[in-house]
Amino acid sequence: MVSLSEIYTSNALITSSLPPRLVAVFVGGTSGIGESTLKAFVSYAVQPKIYILGRNNASAERIIGECKFLGPEGHVGEAEVVFLQADLSSMKTVEVTPEGLHAFLASAYYDRMLIIHLLAPLLLSATDSHPGLARVVSVACGCDEGIIEPSDFSALRIPSSALRGHIGTLTTLTLEALATNTGPDNSITFIHANPGLVRTPYQDRMTGAFGVFARGLMWVKKITGEAIGIEESGERHLYLLTSARYPPGGVPITGGALSAIGTNGLRANEGSKAGAVYSLDKNGEPAGEHVVSLLTKYREEGMVDRLWLWLKGEYYRAGVVLS
Ligand SMILES: NC(=O)c1ccc[n+]([C@@H]2O[C@H](COP(=O)([O-])OP(=O)(O)OC[C@H]3O[C@@H](n4cnc5c(N)ncnc54)[C@H](OP(=O)(O)O)[C@@H]3O)[C@@H](O)[C@H]2O)c1
Repeated sequence: MVSLSEIYTSNALITSSLPPRLVAVFVGGTSGIGESTLKAFVSYAVQPKIYILGRNNASAERIIGECKFLGPEGHVGEAEVVFLQADLSSMKTVEVTPEGLHAFLASAYYDRMLIIHLLAPLLLSATDSHPGLARVVSVACGCDEGIIEPSDFSALRIPSSALRGHIGTLTTLTLEALATNTGPDNSITFIHANPGLVRTPYQDRMTGAFGVFARGLMWVKKITGEAIGIEESGERHLYLLTSARYPPGGVPITGGALSAIGTNGLRANEGSKAGAVYSLDKNGEPAGEHVVSLLTKYREEGMVDRLWLWLKGEYYRAGVVLS
């Protein structure tokens, strides 16, 4: 398990180990995990440039104001933070929801995979100026991959009990497809992260019986000490974005720790130039043997290509044509 002290030590080294003027995009950075990760990033990085995507202008203004008081010693208030107001649910992928896309998958899967696909070339070119550190962290349900239903990728008929496992595998295998699509020189690290239970406005947004259940569960987990505090969550996600534990690039790991194992079951070298895909639990630990074998089986069955073809078809149906 990656200890919390290791995480804080590594993050504190961002100031001296990583180059200045790193660029980061926080999709959903106006609240919760995105906001806390953004603030942690501003606290350690020298003169970073940050783009926040979200709907809530007031929250963005508040965060931009707070960032003026954050930064490493000698660099407080030097972050450039830009808010790009965007309602991602108005993207074409979601607009077709009435035509048959699963409403939850629309925001949790279709939109974010499209954004990652569109940003990948920019990330790759960014490594020209900051060699070796180009990362995508998608916060969802890493390590919870389960049985996928190939005749129902869009999860319209899947019982809710099987949805998490299905979405988990859909997400991880799609990140693998995106990693492959990035080409032979891919140096992007793709991470499917599981944040654990973090008390954020996310639970307040949930309506009906599920919302009551989620808030009740959070209350219990807070009492048992299993809930993760918002600042800690920000530090943990910043670690995923910057530690050499998930190569290539990043803050060198200390204390003899090894780099993480990718979804292909292999461990990349710290000096590796090739990107990798990681599915990580709330402690930043990679998926175990059970998940790795499941993913291997699907990969051998050609599921990565099949999934990508299907997804391209869904985007096309929604009017988004991908090369
Ligand atoms: N918290 C947990 O325990 C937990 C557990 C597992 C997975 N997750 C996942 O982690 C991610 C972040 O969760 P969180 O707890 O940090 O939630 P949160 O506090 O509700 O933050 C969600 C962020 O997404 C943005 N957003 C939501 N809908 C949007 C839309 N249509 N267009 C543009 N931006 C939109 C929100 O910004 P605006 O309001 O400004 O639009 C906000 O910045 C979610 O995907 C969630 O499924 C969270």
